[in-house]
Amino acid sequence: MNIILLGPPGAGKGTQASKLVEERGMVQLSTGDMLRAAVKAGTPVGLKAKAVMDAGQLVSDEIVSDLIGDKLDEMGPDKGAIFDGYPRTAAQAESLDAILSARGRSLDHVIELDVDEDALVERITGRFTCAKCGEGYHDTFKQPKAEGVCDVCGGTEFKRRPDDNAETVRTRMAEYRAKTAPILPIYEARGLVKRVDGMADMDDVAASIAAILDA
Ligand code: AP5
Repeated sequence: MNIILLGPPGAGKGTQASKLVEERGMVQLSTGDMLRAAVKAGTPVGLKAKAVMDAGQLVSDEIVSDLIGDKLDEMGPDKGAIFDGYPRTAAQAESLDAILSARGRSLDHVIELDVDEDALVERITGRFTCAKCGEGYHDTFKQPKAEGVCDVCGGTEFKRRPDDNAETVRTRMAEYRAKTAPILPIYEARGLVKRVDGMADMDDVAASIAAILDA
């Protein structure tokens, strides 16, 4: 099964993708994570992408589509793919069709996380991760059980994304409205879109997604 998780920054795409990886053995293909890894490693792609990401704008279609194709080849044909943060433009949606069909795959669902944009700024500006294992936390919604200690690995260092400040979040939202939301009708016309209330509790969102995948 191949699915897209679609929604604005902070909608919960990464959160829900991680659950699907754990519970269903699917593979998460997050272009944001791939780009951040490239920035960290100082690769040519990372060097190109850093300033664009820090400004909250979109990296070039060609770069991200190449990353997705490479990752699909690497994961092999047997596992289902969860596209998280990709496609984000009409050109990327078109590339994804070509990338999938070249590998004998097709899309099963486009799951739109329907959220209230005002709540997203709080979600994004409050989130942080363990610097050692990457476990996600939030100032309001999910603090580590023991203060300053990661529940998963015991790490004591935490980090925040450079693009998670209020000003950049506004640019990311504007990019979503201008370039990503317009791709929904493409998938609606193909009967692929399923809407889920992304403002519900995380477990309830997961249950709604599970119901779609199991239907
Ligand atoms: P990317 O990493 O994809 O960021 P994003 O789309 O802005 O999404 P986020 O990771 O911020 O949010 P999310 O929806 O995954 O939410 P999360 O689960 O973390 O992209 C970053 C940048 O890379 C882009 O700006 C761009 O420059 C570049 N880029 C990436 N892909 C690209 C592409 N295809 N083309 C061009 N450029 C690209 O949740 C957020 C917080 O809310 C967490 O703290 C979580 O715990 C909490 N939360 C989640 N669900 C709930 C809930 N139901 N209730 C309460 N809290 C919740």
